[in-house]
Amino acid sequence: MAIPESFLDELVQKTDLVELVGGYVKLSKRSGSNLFGLCPFHSEKTPSFSVSADKQMYYCFGCGKGGGAVNFIMEIENLTFPDAVEFLARRAGLTVSDTKDTARTSRRRLLDLNRDAARFYHGVLSSPEGAAAVRYIGERRISKRMVTRFGLGAAPNSWNSLGDAMTSMGYAAKELLDAGLVKENKKSGGFYDTFRNRLVFPVIDVRGAVIGFSGRMLGAGEPKYLNSPDTQVFSKSRHLFALNLAKKSKAGMLILTEGNIDVVALHQAGFDCAVASLGTSLTDTQVRLMARYADKLVIAFDSDGAGEKAAARAIRLTEKTGMGVRLLRLQGAKDPDEYINKFGADAFRLLIERSENHIVYKMGDIKRKYDMNTEDGRVGYLSEATQMLAGIRSRPEREIYGARLAEETGVSVAAVENELANLTKRDEWRRKRSMERKITRPAEAAQPSARSIRYANEYSAIAEEGVVRCILLDPPLIDEARGENFSESEFSSPFLAKAFGILRARSESGKEISPAALFAALKPAEAERISAILQKPESIPDGQQALRDYIKKIRTESFRAKAKAEMNVGEYFSSIKDIKGLGG
Ligand code: UTP
Ligand code: MN
Repeated sequence: MAIPESFLDELVQKTDLVELVGGYVKLSKRSGSNLFGLCPFHSEKTPSFSVSADKQMYYCFGCGKGGGAVNFIMEIENLTFPDAVEFLARRAGLTVSDTKDTARTSRRRLLDLNRDAARFYHGVLSSPEGAAAVRYIGERRISKRMVTRFGLGAAPNSWNSLGDAMTSMGYAAKELLDAGLVKENKKSGGFYDTFRNRLVFPVIDVRGAVIGFSGRMLGAGEPKYLNSPDTQVFSKSRHLFALNLAKKSKAGMLILTEGNIDVVALHQAGFDCAVASLGTSLTDTQVRLMARYADKLVIAFDSDGAGEKAAARAIRLTEKTGMGVRLLRLQGAKDPDEYINKFGADAFRLLIERSENHIVYKMGDIKRKYDMNTEDGRVGYLSEATQMLAGIRSRPEREIYGARLAEETGVSVAAVENELANLTKRDEWRRKRSMERKITRPAEAAQPSARSIRYANEYSAIAEEGVVRCILLDPPLIDEARGENFSESEFSSPFLAKAFGILRARSESGKEISPAALFAALKPAEAERISAILQKPESIPDGQQALRDYIKKIRTESFRAKAKAEMNVGEYFSSIKDIKGLGG
């Protein structure tokens, strides 16, 4: 890690997690030294997001997100590790010593490289090699102004145009590879351009840096779009196309579309607040990102079945943000681009004005399932729609749509409101119960949810988790492990070995051992797992004994695994008997 441990330690010490989280989440309930609030990372109505003041860690009993201050900022501000550190440093009045910081300089270099690549692609449009792309831009009725505004470009129909140009600017093949702009030819060992014969859309983040690219075929063919792979600066599930432009819009809303071309067409028609997800299904991170720039959202997805499904998902994801969400139904066109080309900008504006609020949209969906001409149908609709309305957090909204439901079904408003009140109460009670159960008996999934740290030997890993947990809860126990001559080489899980190694090294150099210090040295998925492990009931009556038992278990498991690999079946079984005999 490029950021020195001593700096991270100071940062962690100067950051109060309760205060930090408090800036984003209303922490209202208290239980012991834990504070609770509504989780900012998933949708919920009763608080299951906890922040521990003494451990300086957070954990959500609902969605399992957890970690320390840096993890929290990475997640909620959508920042990379070095950027989150810088964010916290600035907040704490520290300066990141960035002269020697290789992570930051390599990031800077990658962004410069991307910018130069974007310039190259853009330049191609005014060269003979760009003729096909220019023709295509004309066919799609994209104006010159939009070409400039979006910095559109063209990848020539050749294997090495970009590679050659960038190499002559002084970039190494390895750097181009890391940026995802070239690929390696496994046979010859040479490199070839990733984007060839495509219209190129640079993806620019909210700070104006070119972080990746999206390339469309000029005409028919597969795959229609190609996106940059995930790199040190780009992850297509964490960014939105054109948010850099849309964030400056005065429209007071964002329009979310599926396609890059839809965005360009909308901006061209005067809707400068259009953005698109980058060919992935919408993520929580993208939703939070949008919520930072607007409190109104219009979803304008394709009118096909896939688009409708994606829209329903987007509505679900946006519900927790409190954004006002409306849904466009494009009739007579497959997507916003086609709609505008066919019917014009004014028609699209009318469509937005008349678009349905997402609750009405949901009620309509339910209604369509029933025959409203029959008593049974109306009763069915009434009961399912009340259920749905009971799930809405805002009480005024529940009442408005409750009244509407009453009118549609011919029931008195009071009756619907009564039923809604009952349902919301029951709902809250059920959630509270299930959360209490989770806290007293946390779900101990044997495997971490992140694939990257899955355990090869679950039995050993549980004991390894035990060791790490004992030491974090009672740091002097690390001497006990040392007394047993126990070291990270005995771990089966590389990630837990790393965690233990960090704790051991810290103790040997006289540094404090704390969850917060450990989190700062781990990857997000790792920190999340550690925070889950730490949720198990607090007290270990005899920490020393527990630690010894865990170590014994790890050694037995390692013997068992080795034996299994080396012996024949008969020998293996008799060896297990031996171990059991020895262990008593
Ligand atoms: P669409 O097929 O709706 O694209 O895919 P579009 O922008 O409307 O393009 P046109 O109008 O056909 O030219 C929506 C988005 O999904 C991603 C792209 O980001 C695209 O803009 N996508 C699509 C891919 O990543 N790969 C593909 O093969 C297709
Ligand atoms: Mn399209």
